[in-house]
Amino acid sequence: MEKMPYRIELDTVTMPPAAVAPVVSSNWQQGLPTLAGEQVVLRELRASDAASLFALLTTEEVSRFISPPPTTVEGFERFIAWTLRQRLAGTYACFAVTLRGFNTAIGIFQIRELQPGFGTAEWGFAIGSPFWGTGVFEDGAELVLDFAFDSIGVHRLEARAAVPNGRGNGALQKIGAVQECVLRKSFQRNGQYLDQVLYAILDSDRREATAAVRVH
Ligand SMILES: CC(C)(COP(=O)(O)OP(=O)(O)OC[C@H]1O[C@@H](n2cnc3c(N)ncnc32)[C@H](O)[C@@H]1OP(=O)(O)O)[C@@H](O)C(=O)NCCC(=O)NCCS
Repeated sequence: MEKMPYRIELDTVTMPPAAVAPVVSSNWQQGLPTLAGEQVVLRELRASDAASLFALLTTEEVSRFISPPPTTVEGFERFIAWTLRQRLAGTYACFAVTLRGFNTAIGIFQIRELQPGFGTAEWGFAIGSPFWGTGVFEDGAELVLDFAFDSIGVHRLEARAAVPNGRGNGALQKIGAVQECVLRKSFQRNGQYLDQVLYAILDSDRREATAAVRVH
């Protein structure tokens, strides 16, 4: 999340309203699939998600260890339009997190290409704090991992978490991300440079974890 590429100040392209037609293709670049877990449903973002995402993702506790989110509802609308353009370009995917039976977006999961062809990719996530510690993260993360490895064909999925971000580090560890190193003073937030932990999950890690779950 920390290094996700969207930057409000660079997004000056005026685009027609984002297309929100139902997914009719298995090609994720044309439209993200809807992924259903036990608690959550992940789906394509819509312009109408801007208000709830603005309310939930701009609080101090959610945003303090991630790149600054947009500061207005309109800024989130532009961010959402940008995510759809990036998905069409085939370099990035962003899912809205909703609770089963509800349509409100309460968070996001993002995946972006780090190498052409998505051999190496990076993911990031943010969920509104009322839903922390509820299992929503883990449920959504499993869906995104399956999507990244099985649908996109990612080989290595990286994540970065600022060292003082206890929940971010705890969340990554509990879903099997492997800590590889510390990137010293690699993330600037509120005028301060923070160390980040670099995590990765390999497609082989994922296959082993999935096989182990089947055995038990
Ligand atoms: C990251 C995020 C999506 C995780 O969702 P969550 O619901 O908080 O995650 P969970 O509660 O499932 O898991 C967090 C784990 O970290 C642990 N944890 C909490 N605070 C901790 C701390 N200070 N130090 C270490 N571990 C901590 C929790 O106990 C939990 O583990 P457990 O379920 O085994 O007890 C959410 O906290 C969030 O949106 N944070 C703000 C955005 C952000 O920082 N994103 C970038 C992450 S790299």
